[in-house]
Amino acid sequence: MARIDPHSYADDGQPSVTHLDWDARVDFGATVITAEAVLRLAAAPVEAVPLDLDTRGLVIETVETERGQSLAWDLADPDPVLGARLRVHLTAGVDGLRIRYRTGPNASALQWLAPDQTSSGAPFLYSQCQAIHARSLIPVQDTPSRRITYTAALRVPSDLQALMAAEALGTEPSGGATAVARFRMPQPIAPYLFALAVGMLEARDLGARTRVWAEPAILDAAAHEFADVDAMLTTGERLFGPYDWERYDLLVLPAAFPYGGMENPRLTFLTPTVVAGDRSQVSVVAHELAHSWTGNLVSNANAEHFWLNEGFTTYAERRIVEALSGVEAAALDWALGRRALDEAIALFKQQGQTALTLLRTRLEGLDPDEGYSVVPYEKGALFLRALEDAVGRERFDHLLHAYITRFRFQALTTEDFEAFAEEQLPGALALVGSERWLREPGVPSDAPRMSTARLDAIESLGTRLPSDTEAAAWRAVEWELYVESLPEDVSTDVLAEIDGRFHLTAAKGYDVLTAWLALGLKRGYAPAVARAEEVLGTVGRMKYLKPLYRVMAGRAETRQLARALYDRFQPRYHPIARQVIPGVLESAGG
Ligand code: BES
Ligand code: ZN
Repeated sequence: MARIDPHSYADDGQPSVTHLDWDARVDFGATVITAEAVLRLAAAPVEAVPLDLDTRGLVIETVETERGQSLAWDLADPDPVLGARLRVHLTAGVDGLRIRYRTGPNASALQWLAPDQTSSGAPFLYSQCQAIHARSLIPVQDTPSRRITYTAALRVPSDLQALMAAEALGTEPSGGATAVARFRMPQPIAPYLFALAVGMLEARDLGARTRVWAEPAILDAAAHEFADVDAMLTTGERLFGPYDWERYDLLVLPAAFPYGGMENPRLTFLTPTVVAGDRSQVSVVAHELAHSWTGNLVSNANAEHFWLNEGFTTYAERRIVEALSGVEAAALDWALGRRALDEAIALFKQQGQTALTLLRTRLEGLDPDEGYSVVPYEKGALFLRALEDAVGRERFDHLLHAYITRFRFQALTTEDFEAFAEEQLPGALALVGSERWLREPGVPSDAPRMSTARLDAIESLGTRLPSDTEAAAWRAVEWELYVESLPEDVSTDVLAEIDGRFHLTAAKGYDVLTAWLALGLKRGYAPAVARAEEVLGTVGRMKYLKPLYRVMAGRAETRQLARALYDRFQPRYHPIARQVIPGVLESAGG
């Protein structure tokens, strides 16, 4: 008997939970979900055995067999990273158990938004289970090495719309002001892909298999932004094989959502900051869609192999972008990614954490949310690109298809991947020096460089301002690359001049804006401070919060302000952001 995942109590000597029937009542008043979870086992044990489940903050009321016989159980003291192990003592012949429980008031997977935090003025609830928060919502074997199918009945206020990342079976009244919405997930999923949302939501169809959900005020803009998602889905199928999840819908969440996107199956969750008005953020959708193959279908065995999810998906995302928008557009994304990667590696080095720049990581004792960075994304994608360059696209694509076919609905480790690649393309890993990519820090010096004329033109500008004709042709990526290419010691006079001409402090796209504000804050450019404050108070996406807090806290002049702003805004941030940002402030010197 051994644990199979450093972030779960699941044990390979114990029965596997393979199906969940979930009946849950969402109580906005108490900000608690009261639920009954029926867990079905792959097989009934022939003798009495323990079953270890992950929980975090759950209040367990009763544990019994499906027929109502009570089962002995104990809840261990919580571990700060893993949560509390719930050990149920199964008796021989029991193939299902019923747990009655409620979520804790600070469930790490849930964000309960007050009416003033949504554009509709209605309350809102949504979940974010990756990396290891499903356990704060349901008692499960919370590891991607165990998959479950499920049914769910969600009891919610009848004036709100309930959604899950599953097949919707309909809603019916359930007495008083409550409705019950039913769902079913027939494909087995990793628990981190369990997801729900409840709020004032409306839908617009985008295609036969796709629709977008959003609060009414943003629905038109969202439908316009994502008009091409059906074509994207078709492209995904052409590149990666059949789409196994039937529908692909999008849900635009309130601004507090801590990520750009989350690949919940059938229903990608998105930050409203991707609704930029100019379709400049559709690569986020390409990314989440690509997870339908790499991540949701083929999953990393645990967080130590996270690059298998995110590196493959970033690679796949760029292939979609290339197919839909051309090689140049994809190359610009690669270039942005490379910059972000170099920056992340430099930061880890400075913090004495180079171990987090390996692809194959060791994370025992470390919360995966704390170790999160672009490294598994960009270094992972670059590694795959190096492999593609070494063997040629045709053979690489063949490997990719074989990989998806071989591991569909399964989880694998880096070592499994290496064995498979060696079997399919003998010698290819050695050709790119895979050991350096996977198990050594930093980026190999012979890493691919995707150059483009558009990028060269931007980089050759230096502190020179683009001409009006040049600037008129620039899209958001180009602006971001331009800002990131400005020298670190650029003067505030130059910043003011750029701002005067191109109004970057007023930029609408958050990628450009954040790059600009981070630079402005670093250089003491006064207008950046008030605008950064505005961003920190409206947006919850950590990609923007982290750099802004980091540079603010890293500078004596704004250090106290960073603290004060965090104290003021943190009640509005997602539990995951509240867990991560204090560390950012601290290591930046705040
Ligand atoms: N699966 C991730 C988000 C995530 C990772 C949540 C780890 C929790 C723990 C998602 O697919 C993602 O990568 N989102 C990116 C999108 C970007 C790379 C296009 C994001 O949110 O920035
Ligand atoms: Zn991803």
